[in-house]
Parts: sequence; structure tokens; C-alpha cells
Amino acid sequence: MKKNKGKTKQKKEVALNISHIGKVENLSYSSYGVLKSDGKVIFVPYTVTGDIISYRLLKDKKTFSEGMLIEILNSSPYRRKPLCPYFGKCGGCQWQHVNYEYQLLSKKMITKDLLERIGKIIDPPVKEIIAGESEWYYRNRVRFQIGVAKQDVNFGFAVYNSNEVVDIETCYIIRKPIIEMIKKIREIKEEIIGLYDFEVYYSDLEDKFIFYGITRNVTALNNIRRLPDLFKGGIFFDKKSKRSVTIKNPTLNYRLKTALNNHDIKISAGGFLQANQYINEKVINTLIDEFSNCEDLKLLELYSGCGNFTVPLSKLFKHVVAVEGSSISIQALEENLYKNNIINVVPVNNDVKEEVIKNFHLKKKYDVIFLDPPRSGAKEIITYLPHLGANTIVYLSCNPSTLARDLQILINSGYSLEKVIPFDMFPQTFHIEVLAVLKR
Ligand SMILES: C[S@@+](CC[C@H](N)C(=O)[O-])C[C@H]1O[C@@H](n2cnc3c(N)ncnc32)[C@H](O)[C@@H]1O
Repeated sequence: MKKNKGKTKQKKEVALNISHIGKVENLSYSSYGVLKSDGKVIFVPYTVTGDIISYRLLKDKKTFSEGMLIEILNSSPYRRKPLCPYFGKCGGCQWQHVNYEYQLLSKKMITKDLLERIGKIIDPPVKEIIAGESEWYYRNRVRFQIGVAKQDVNFGFAVYNSNEVVDIETCYIIRKPIIEMIKKIREIKEEIIGLYDFEVYYSDLEDKFIFYGITRNVTALNNIRRLPDLFKGGIFFDKKSKRSVTIKNPTLNYRLKTALNNHDIKISAGGFLQANQYINEKVINTLIDEFSNCEDLKLLELYSGCGNFTVPLSKLFKHVVAVEGSSISIQALEENLYKNNIINVVPVNNDVKEEVIKNFHLKKKYDVIFLDPPRSGAKEIITYLPHLGANTIVYLSCNPSTLARDLQILINSGYSLEKVIPFDMFPQTFHIEVLAVLKR
């Protein structure tokens, strides 16, 4: 028995070492190109539909394999030269080698495929994807990793498939003022050695930055002297002691230009900020269209953050209950309601699960539910939502896999999926933002 096992292992190792040739059939949500061989799916990163490649297997599992690109034998018409010198090593982007039109088409197809395969939804009504204003220089909030290699500090993004950090001098997907900020931080790199990661937020309206840094060790703050001078303010959070230190004014205001009005929204370091302002406004305008006849209705908004959607949506509903778990964000939400003269919103600082279950037991009813959960989705609350009275549920997701899982539950509870709109919030990456509208 033991002997056989050894032989199988040996056979497998040989199989992993030989090179194979194949044609890439499509792009998958893992970001990888997909090939098929003997009925098995093989995922190979940095390839694109139509490439004929030679590859080596790295992992050979029962239902799928993962491979490494050796050579492109015949290049796909969708392929292009990546702009960034770090592409292929840096984990920040996965699709710079794919032309933008094909990135958009792939995101639409992936959304449809995930809704069909995971959500078991037949012919999901997926509309055209809304493209970014620009495929480059769009991120206004970005988290940099800090690594230490050979006694040098690396400031950038995690290396693809590893914990190492690629030390970057520039980046093609962040806002240009943040690139200038990177250059300044690099000049004082030795100060940040004790940080684990460092998030930078930028506002056009103020042309200022704030930060949220997580410290690796308690002595980190003793080193950091000049860094705060570059920022309006920020927060250092120590993971071990769970204590935070606030520096100057850790808040920014950004201006939402929507079809209804302009709204100034305050955010705090550590709170959530939609990373692509142009797409953020496109999502809000889509919601404004969707909720055009709701002036007598009651909205339950879950995962409201600082009120990025709450403020514009409050103008469309009679009454809004907005639930958010982060105390940093709820404080900003309260201020945003006050400064925008909004009196029809009740902000609730609670865990969404607790709040939804409480509403369920109290038999509270709403006309519309709008939710914008984190990547993990809304599994914990989704079965309760159909009991809260709403005939319309609008779900904004940054992960179409968890969206598909949750939609299946709503559909099985009597809702029908009216439309699904993908938004390209993150060009050059495989990430997809998706809005789904359900009615019953
Ligand atoms: C994707 S963000 C959306 C925020 C907001 N809608 C916006 O556009 O700025 C998700 C939000 O949900 C909050 N959140 C995550 N898990 C939560 C939970 N279990 N209960 C309450 N809020 C939660 C986060 O703090 C974050 O503000």
C-alpha cells in the first residue's frame, strides 16, 4: 500500500514538471485564464482568452489544476503591453495585460457565469457594465503594505502569491496626488519600519490626505516623526493593545456630485470610502433612478458607512433607518446628516445581524431594503430580509460570488431578480462591483 502511494506521488511530481500546450478559453473570477485538458479546468495567471501558451502545472487537484505560464506561443488579440514595470510581481493589478474593452466584457460575462453557477439563476438579467471614467489613476483610497527585506523597508503592495512586499516608486491605478505622496513617504522610509500597513485617503475637494496606519510593534510610534507633517491628520492603531493614537485632524470631506444635488460628505481615517469617485457617483445616480417614486416609503439601509448613499437617498424616501457597525463611521454619518440638514434618517450603531434579528422579532416593517455589505456578503442576515415587509431589495456587492449565493436565497423566498448592473469600480483588477434589484 505504502509502495503504491510513493509511486503515485512520484508520477504526480513528474507530471508537475513537464510543460503542456493549450489555448486559453476565458478569464475567470480568480483573475486567471482558463484552459481545459481531459475535461479538467486549468487556471493560469497572466494569460487571456485566445492565448496559445506553454505552461507547467504547479498544483494538480482532483477537480482543477493551477499552472504557471512558461511562454506565449501565439498572442491573443485581447492582449496588450502592461503599462506598469511592477506588473506580474505586484499583487495590486492582475489584468493590465488585457485591453480595457475585453476587461469590461469579461467582467460582465463573469458576473453572469457566477450568478448561473453559484446562484443557480437561469439567464440572469445582467445589463451592460458601466465603465470607469479612466482606466488609470482612479483610486482615491489605497492601502500600502510595509515589508522589511535585507534590512531595507519595502513600501507598496504584496507580491503576487506571497507575503513579500514589492517596493514601488509609482503606480498607475492610484490618483496622481497619491503618487506624489508615495515619493515623499519614500524619502522618510526608515520611519515606517514598525508599521504593518498604511492606508492613504485623498480628497479632491480639500486637496489633502489622511492616513490610517496599523503598527507592528509598540515602539513604532517613537520612530515616526516627520510622516504626520505630510497629512492633514490620521490614526495609528496598535493591533496588540487595540489602542489608537489620533494625530491632528483625521477627517476629510469629499463632494458627491449626483443627479439630485451636490453633497459634501465627511469621512474619518479608518472608515470606509468608495475607492473610485466617478463610479461611486454612477452607482448613486442609478439608485436615484431606481428609487424615483419612493417619497412615501420607508427605507432600511444596511452597512451604511458614513452616509455616502444615505445622504442622497434620504431625499427620496419619507423615512430611513441606516445601520452601521463601525463607531468611527456612525459618528461621521451623524455629522453628515446634521450638516446636510437631514432629519428623516435614524442612524443605528449596531451589528447588522443583531439589528436585523431585533427588527424581525419586533415585527418591524419597511418598504425597501438597500444593503452594501463587505466582500463576505450578507449570509448571516439574508434569510431574515424577506420577513421585514420590503417588496424591493437592492443589493450592492463588491463580490459577485457571495452576491450569487445570497441572491439564490432571496429568489427562493419569492423575490424575482429584475436587473443586475455591473460597475467597473476597479479597472486593471478582477474586482467587480455589482448592483442587483429584486422585487416581489
Ligand atoms: C462596503 S462598506 C459600505 C459603506 C457605505 N455604504 C459606503 O458606500 O461608504 C461596508 C460597511 O459595512 C460595515 N460593516 C461591516 N460588517 C458589519 C456588520 N456586521 N454590522 C454592521 N456594519 C458592518 C463596515 O464598517 C462598512 O462601513
